Amino acid sequence: MKSLRCLIGLFLFTAVISAPFAAHSQVLAQTPPMGWNSWNHFRDKVDDATIRRMADAMVSSGMRDAGYTYINIDDTWEGQRDAQGIIHPNAKFPDMKALADYVHSKGLKLGIYSSPGAQTCAHYEGSLGHESQDAETYASWGIDYLKYDLCGLRTEMKAAPSPEAAHKIMIDAYMKMHDALQATGRPIVYSLCQYGEDAVWEWGASVGGNLWRTTGDISDNYTRMSDIGFGQAGLAKFAGPGHWNDPDMLEVGNGKMNDEEYRTHMSLWAILAAPLLAGNDLSNMTDDTKAILMNKEVIAVDQDPLGKEGDRVYSEGPIEVWSKPLSDGALAVGIFNRHQKALTAHVDFTKMGFTGSVQARDLWQHKDLGALPSKYDVEVPAHGVLMLRVTR
Ligand code: GLA
Repeated sequence: MKSLRCLIGLFLFTAVISAPFAAHSQVLAQTPPMGWNSWNHFRDKVDDATIRRMADAMVSSGMRDAGYTYINIDDTWEGQRDAQGIIHPNAKFPDMKALADYVHSKGLKLGIYSSPGAQTCAHYEGSLGHESQDAETYASWGIDYLKYDLCGLRTEMKAAPSPEAAHKIMIDAYMKMHDALQATGRPIVYSLCQYGEDAVWEWGASVGGNLWRTTGDISDNYTRMSDIGFGQAGLAKFAGPGHWNDPDMLEVGNGKMNDEEYRTHMSLWAILAAPLLAGNDLSNMTDDTKAILMNKEVIAVDQDPLGKEGDRVYSEGPIEVWSKPLSDGALAVGIFNRHQKALTAHVDFTKMGFTGSVQARDLWQHKDLGALPSKYDVEVPAHGVLMLRVTR
């Protein structure tokens, strides 16, 4: 009897202790994270004032209300460790806790960046040997998101006796930080960044990743963006609520692509159920940039609660047709033209499981198109997209 009571006691204790941790990993990133990250636009020029300005602009532009939540500080915030080994921000960030309070006061969340290596990609202090301490420090500041970027750990991996041993060093390092974050008791979205090496989509979720980069770095360039985006074909089955493929942050509004190309970028990322982390200067956006980043119908495709990543249905040379199933039974369909001139696309809805005519809505024109035949021809602009919501 006594031992039974002991057992029940132990069970209850375990349930109470583990409940918040289990809840975190279940609740976090049920749809792909949305927010902003400093790297694509500001690089090492990011500082406290910039982050506050971006938080203000996130609210005043309407981005927060459109679903963008995380304000993420990327590399170059790190300062020195003190005698106890505790990391401090450098002079650009005088008071991280006060900054987090400010961001939170706007109804937003704050993200930060580190590396499992001794150094980050930009050669700032990494977390190697200080994982628990760093996780605790982040939690004490009120951090809600961590991007953990492999970079410096390559030194340890290169010294490993075999590729398998190098792989294990990486897996262990990612698991270690996951455990450290969990131990803080604070829900912190965990973003793996190791450029898609070793088929990360196969093991990213098992080391606690809520998202994992599937590729090298994006740049504000149609060729690079489209190679990354269309290169995601076949990865859909690895994504789902709580764990997403991450084809890298958005370049929309950074100025080196035209609006047609940025609409392609936004549409493709939505069909991919990709994290939508804007990477531009939110305090200085054209109306076109705002219309692209805040197209609620396209965002709804990305954030659809079914959480299914879309995939390529077929391609005809530079024409690519992709679709994504939505929770209400509709299909989001992207008809893309990768050529540098306008082309006619032969759209075949029978390849997407439809038999007769379909009902379609154009998500960039915000217009119902009415009934379309199961096969129809449509012109798509150079590097452009026709983004539809299709039902029977
Ligand atoms: C790597 C990452 C980028 C960015 C930089 C920062 O290149 O892939 O997204 O975080 O490091 O140094």
